[in-house]
Amino acid sequence: MNALEIHGLSAGYGGQPIVRDIRLTVGTGEIVALLGANGAGKTTTLRAASGVLRHSGKLHLDGQDISGVSAARRVALGLAHVPQGRGTFVDFSVEENLRLGAYSVTSAQRIQDDTAYWFGVFPRLKERRAQLAGSLSGGEQQMLAIARAMMTRPKVLMCDEPSLGLAPAVTADLFVLLRDLAADRGTGILIVEQNAHLTLEIAARAYVLEHGEIAIEGSAATLSRNSEIQRAYLGIEA
Ligand SMILES: Nc1ncnc2c1ncn2[C@@H]1O[C@H](COP(=O)(O)OP(=O)(O)OP(=O)(O)O)[C@@H](O)[C@H]1O
Ligand SMILES: [Mg+2]
Repeated sequence: MNALEIHGLSAGYGGQPIVRDIRLTVGTGEIVALLGANGAGKTTTLRAASGVLRHSGKLHLDGQDISGVSAARRVALGLAHVPQGRGTFVDFSVEENLRLGAYSVTSAQRIQDDTAYWFGVFPRLKERRAQLAGSLSGGEQQMLAIARAMMTRPKVLMCDEPSLGLAPAVTADLFVLLRDLAADRGTGILIVEQNAHLTLEIAARAYVLEHGEIAIEGSAATLSRNSEIQRAYLGIEA
């Protein structure tokens, strides 16, 4: 069974359609890339899937229909979203952000355990646990955004441009982390990225959005060899 299944999803702003008839799946522990030019509708797709943007179409999370479910409930059911631009609560401390991420978790013990776990993964965050999130560096904020999203132990994590503004070495570390999350925890990951090179290295499959519709889909290996993809996203002249 797929962790996330999206069928016929359409969404837009102010009555104007932006993405149309999106169909995509993410398996358990699978990393799937969503590629596309600026303005193609990648962020809109993730916002609709997370439920913060009204949409038509069907979504299933681990087989459960979540199409009519609120954004907060989707998080509680296991669909996490790290929005473009990170989305930490800048006026709250690092530790408070982790607790806020776990707002749907009722076990205090589990919140404590998971906070300790993520401080182990990101010692830089532990050192800065009392610091306001808004005063963290870009890379540290990205770490916090992912750790915060993971506090619910999601089945599927949707990340919108996690490498934005990060140095190459930090991005490389982040991608290793995402790969480990998928492999070790079975988290399905849907990743939107400008860095198509790195993304296709860790992804099993990819979809390419063009003008709000899925134009190309396939295995990451196949797409890496596709001359259109190479020209548009990988900077390789055919
Ligand atoms: N709140 C909004 N109101 C009106 N139009 C919007 C809104 N947000 C996005 N759009 C428009 O929807 C289209 C798709 O935007 P979206 O943010 O989904 O693109 P994207 O693929 O994520 O691009 P990028 O790579 O630049 O992040 C764009 O033309 C954008 O101008
Ligand atoms: Mg975007």
